[in-house]
Amino acid sequence: MKMKNLSLLLLTLTLLFISVCSQVQQTQFVYRWPETYCEKATPTVACTKIPLQFTLVGFWGTDSSGGIQQGCPDTGTYDWAKVFTTETINKLTAFWPSLSTQDPKEMWKAAWTTYGTCLISKFKTPTQYFNRAIRLSDAIGGGNLLQGQLIGKDGIVPCDSATYTNAEILKSLTAVTTVNNQKEKKVSFTCNSINSTHAYLNQVTFCYTNNAQYYTDCPTAVISKRCNVPNIIVPRPPTPTARASSLQDLLTGEKIGPNVLWETLGQLF
Ligand SMILES: *[C@@H]1O[C@H](CO)[C@@H](O)[C@H](O)[C@H]1NC(C)=O
Repeated sequence: MKMKNLSLLLLTLTLLFISVCSQVQQTQFVYRWPETYCEKATPTVACTKIPLQFTLVGFWGTDSSGGIQQGCPDTGTYDWAKVFTTETINKLTAFWPSLSTQDPKEMWKAAWTTYGTCLISKFKTPTQYFNRAIRLSDAIGGGNLLQGQLIGKDGIVPCDSATYTNAEILKSLTAVTTVNNQKEKKVSFTCNSINSTHAYLNQVTFCYTNNAQYYTDCPTAVISKRCNVPNIIVPRPPTPTARASSLQDLLTGEKIGPNVLWETLGQLF
């Protein structure tokens, strides 16, 4: 191959990479409801723990139709021990734990390699990417979407026998985007169907401007896949018994069932 052809080829390849990776129109923060992901899916997923909170699926860039940007080239080398300081690990674990036996650090590293690298024009290093994820999480329901928004503001309590209307779930999630007196933005959520009228809440998606700074309306293609089943259940993971009994002793000093305890806690929040 002649030198000129070779440089032409290289130029083409470079342009291709630039165009592939410059399509980020928005960024997304996607949560899952672990009990649905682990226990109410077909097939079920073997989780080693099922926290009673929303946990992050991913933080990534999307194109104009909500397609996830992934697998961009990564030219950097990082000292991962410096990226994952104790403080960063604690903060990430709070909303982005590993639900399986996978080492969370490996999971976060893979998130950077797969998705973070496509946001390289905004976040030059894994540290910047993870710090932004922490900031976005802090802004959603004060770092706890379940307690800070669903239970705390709207009385939507995870419970297998309680159903909430689609409109109630949507209203509660949408309210998250009105921080700093902003006009509300369109969010999305998916369900795992039970039958034609009932479903389990599954994933929740918040969309941001491409610099992951401000809430923005999720693209129509994402909204159109929103759960539209009328009755939604937020299934409750089994209560860890040891913790429940010490809590119940603390609260009442007498024996009450976990369901009663749960109701009590729900009302407290
Ligand atoms: C659909 O599922 C819900 C929840 O399990 C149940 O209460 C309801 O009776 C079911 N409806 C039909 C038509 O099967």
